[in-house]
Amino acid sequence: MSDADGGRDEREYDVLFKILLVGDANVGKTSLLSRFIGEGFVESYKATIGVDFRIKSLEIDQRRVKLQIWDTAGQERFAPLVSSYFRGGHGVAIVYDITNRESFERVNHWANLMREHANEAVEMMILDNKSDLENREESVSEGAELATKYEALWWETSAMSSENVETAFTTLAQKILQNRRLTYGPAPVQVYGPPVLIGTPLTQRGCCHLLGPPGNAYH
Ligand code: GTP
Ligand code: MG
Repeated sequence: MSDADGGRDEREYDVLFKILLVGDANVGKTSLLSRFIGEGFVESYKATIGVDFRIKSLEIDQRRVKLQIWDTAGQERFAPLVSSYFRGGHGVAIVYDITNRESFERVNHWANLMREHANEAVEMMILDNKSDLENREESVSEGAELATKYEALWWETSAMSSENVETAFTTLAQKILQNRRLTYGPAPVQVYGPPVLIGTPLTQRGCCHLLGPPGNAYH
């Protein structure tokens, strides 16, 4: 590495996107994230308490994209806490379980929460999870209709078989990247700063705003 390349190789990533996973309890949010980051699939159910996050790095169009994916608890008692995590998010994935009609109908609730608390430019994705199961309580066309209604990306996924899991998250990251390009124009290679502290006032580094809920330090 030399000064001529601006130290690019020393940097961990070019862009950092914050993505939120929401949806009712038991729909498979944690399982999808575990699958995506390469931790496989666990059949037993352990409810998420509060909010957790994991990191996954991708390379898209020669840019190193770091995804900070927040896995939230679906249980109703955590709703106020989860609401506070929408702020500063670049993407929101609303997950439902195709074998649980109620979780499908509750997508509207999660979308309303997103509209209320997230940035206007947030990219939305709907994931119809557990596609490996046969006893579905909604149809593929209903899922498609919902995605059209919200102009959202939409995938049928299975954390168990891993169907579409990687594709879904990668497509979401691509879409966010593309939207930012439309807004800011093509980014030069060296405009992105070091990791940003969550919990500080709105910070602008290069192209990315990142603001998380208080008390959560990210490095
Ligand atoms: P909360 O943390 O309570 O909000 O739940 P969650 O949405 O994170 O659900 P979790 O990932 O813990 O999965 C709930 C249950 O569904 C677990 O028993 C998983 O093994 C199971 N599960 C998750 N995804 C799939 C899937 O794609 N197919 C099948 N068959 N089971 C799944
Ligand atoms: Mg969970």
